[in-house]
Amino acid sequence: MTTGIQWAELARAAQAASEQAYAPYSKFPVGVAVQASSGKIYTGCNVENASYGGTICAERNAIAAAIVAGERQFIGLMVYTPQDQLTPPCGICRQVIAEFFTPDSPVRSCNHLEQQQEWTLEQLLPSAFTPLFLANSKKI
Ligand code: THU
Repeated sequence: MTTGIQWAELARAAQAASEQAYAPYSKFPVGVAVQASSGKIYTGCNVENASYGGTICAERNAIAAAIVAGERQFIGLMVYTPQDQLTPPCGICRQVIAEFFTPDSPVRSCNHLEQQQEWTLEQLLPSAFTPLFLANSKKI
């Protein structure tokens, strides 16, 4: 277990991941680092496709990398973009984050200007549809 979220390390790892982004169409590289409850950090970058709908965001790639390593719970997520505006996760990624993070989990964005912004997952995705709705459902 970890004692706290390693934000400086997450920012460094997210920036490094953004440098591996495959974003020839949007020219909008994104890197993400997530910290699991184990304390370990996993990264992802966006991977675009000539068939644009095949694009996968950095957030979902970071979470997938952690899942295949056996992680199931997370304590923090950092997005890095080299943009003057701080970038929050997109809608689909918010839903995927909600599968594995708690509503009070912090999600941060940082950039090349060393700016940061933080939200809770609940702020980004209020009234989320979570696994609990299926666990508590009537099986009809
Ligand atoms: N992108 C991400 O990787 N994460 C987000 O949350 C926002 C969007 C990527 C997808 C696409 O490759 C590019 O940014 C422009 O949308």
